[in-house]
Amino acid sequence: MKTRAAILWEVGKDWSVEEIDLDPPKAGEVLVKLVASGLCHSDEHLVTGDIPAPMPVIGGHEGAGVVEEVGPGVDWLVPGDHVIFGFIPACGRCPSCASGHENLCDLGMYLLEGKQISDHTSRHHAHDTDLGLMCLLGTFAERSVVNEASCIKVEPDVPLGVACLLGCGVVTGWGSAVYAADVTPGEDVAVVGIGGIGINAIQGAKLAGAHRIFAIDPLPFKREKAMEFGATHTASSLEEALAQIGEVTLGRMANKVIMTMGLGDGNAIAAALAITAKRGRVVVTNIHSAAETQVAMSAFELTLLEKQVVGSLFGSANPRVDIPRLLGLYADGQLKLDELVTRTYRLDEVNHGYEDMREGRNLRGVINF
Ligand SMILES: NC(=O)c1ccc[n+]([C@@H]2O[C@H](COP(=O)([O-])OP(=O)(O)OC[C@H]3O[C@@H](n4cnc5c(N)ncnc54)[C@H](O)[C@@H]3O)[C@@H](O)[C@H]2O)c1
Ligand SMILES: [Zn+2]
Ligand SMILES: [Zn+2]
Repeated sequence: MKTRAAILWEVGKDWSVEEIDLDPPKAGEVLVKLVASGLCHSDEHLVTGDIPAPMPVIGGHEGAGVVEEVGPGVDWLVPGDHVIFGFIPACGRCPSCASGHENLCDLGMYLLEGKQISDHTSRHHAHDTDLGLMCLLGTFAERSVVNEASCIKVEPDVPLGVACLLGCGVVTGWGSAVYAADVTPGEDVAVVGIGGIGINAIQGAKLAGAHRIFAIDPLPFKREKAMEFGATHTASSLEEALAQIGEVTLGRMANKVIMTMGLGDGNAIAAALAITAKRGRVVVTNIHSAAETQVAMSAFELTLLEKQVVGSLFGSANPRVDIPRLLGLYADGQLKLDELVTRTYRLDEVNHGYEDMREGRNLRGVINF
C-alpha cells in the first residue's frame, strides 16, 4: 500500500515527507495506523549524526496508533486494538526480559540496524530503496509495520494523542528518577536539562518523595514549566546551581543528579559530580555523541566521596509494566500528560517541529495524524 512518511536521506538534511510503499506485515509483525507521534530529541541526533544510523531512515520512535492488520503468528492483537510502541522491543523471553530489565532486551541489538527483526529486510520502500526505521518503529509516518515485540496494548479509552509520549519521553524521564536514580523520600534531586525527558524526571522525583528538586536549564520558559511540574528551585546553569544547591543544602549537595540535556557533554560530568552529595549518584540519560570518547571528571572525588555515575536506557523501566502503570497514575491525576504537549503539528510540519525544539519553544511537540 501507499502511505506517507518523513525520511532522512542523509546526515545534515531536513526530513523529507513523501509517499512510500509499505508491504504487508510478515510473521510476527503488525500494521499500525498512527494516531500521534512525539518529537523526541533522539531523532535530532540522527540528523546531526550523533547517533550513527544507516540512511535512509524513517524517523520517530514515540508513537501510538490502531492495529489494522496482523501477520501470521500474532495471536494477541487484532485489528482495532490500540497500541503504544515501546522504543525498545521486549521479547519477554531473553535473560534481560526474564529478569525484569525489558529495557535491555536482547532484541535491542537490532535497534540501530532499523530493519525488521524477523528477517532483516524492509517493509518500507521509496524510489526503489529500502528504508530503515528509527528504533524499529518509524513513527513519523501515517502507517508503519513493526514487530509485535514493540507493541504494548492499551485500553481503547486511552487518549493516544498524549499517551504516545509514554513510548519514550515520559517513561524515560520518570524511570530515570524512580529506577535509575532510585530517589527515596526526603532526598534532594537535581535535573539538568528540562525538555521532554527532564520534565518527566521531575515528575518521577516528586512522586518518589523528593524533598527539594533543582531544575537546571538556560531557558526561562523551561524553568517556569519545571516549577509547574514540581521543581522547588531553578538555576540557569550547572555553575549557578553549584552555589545555589550548596547554600540550600548547607553544603551536603544533591543526593541524585539526572542528566537530560539535549546533547550529553563529557565536559559537564565533572560539574554534575560537583553538585552531587557524598554517596550520591549521577544518572546519565541524555545521549552523548557516539564519536565522543572522553569524559572529564575527578576520579579522586569519585572514590573519596563514594559517588556513582550510571547510565540509563528507557529509564531502566519495563515497558510492559510501566506504561500501564503510568497510564493509571495519569487516569487518577497523579501524572501530567496533557500539560507536556506544548504544540501539535501535521506530518508535513515535522521540520518546523524540530526547529521549535532546537529553539526550546516546546516541552514536547507532537505530530497528530
Ligand atoms: N537514555 C534514553 O533512553 C533516552 C531516551 C530518550 C531521549 N534521550 C536523550 O535525552 C536527551 C534529552 O531529550 P529531550 O527530548 O528531553 O530533549 P529536549 O531538546 O526536549 O530538551 C533538552 C533541554 O536541555 C536543555 N539544555 C541544553 N544544554 C543545557 C545545559 N548545558 N545545561 C542545562 N540544560 C541544557 C535545553 O535548553 C532543553 O530544554 C537527548 O539527548 C535525548 O536523545 C535518552
Ligand atoms: Zn525518545
Ligand atoms: Zn527480551
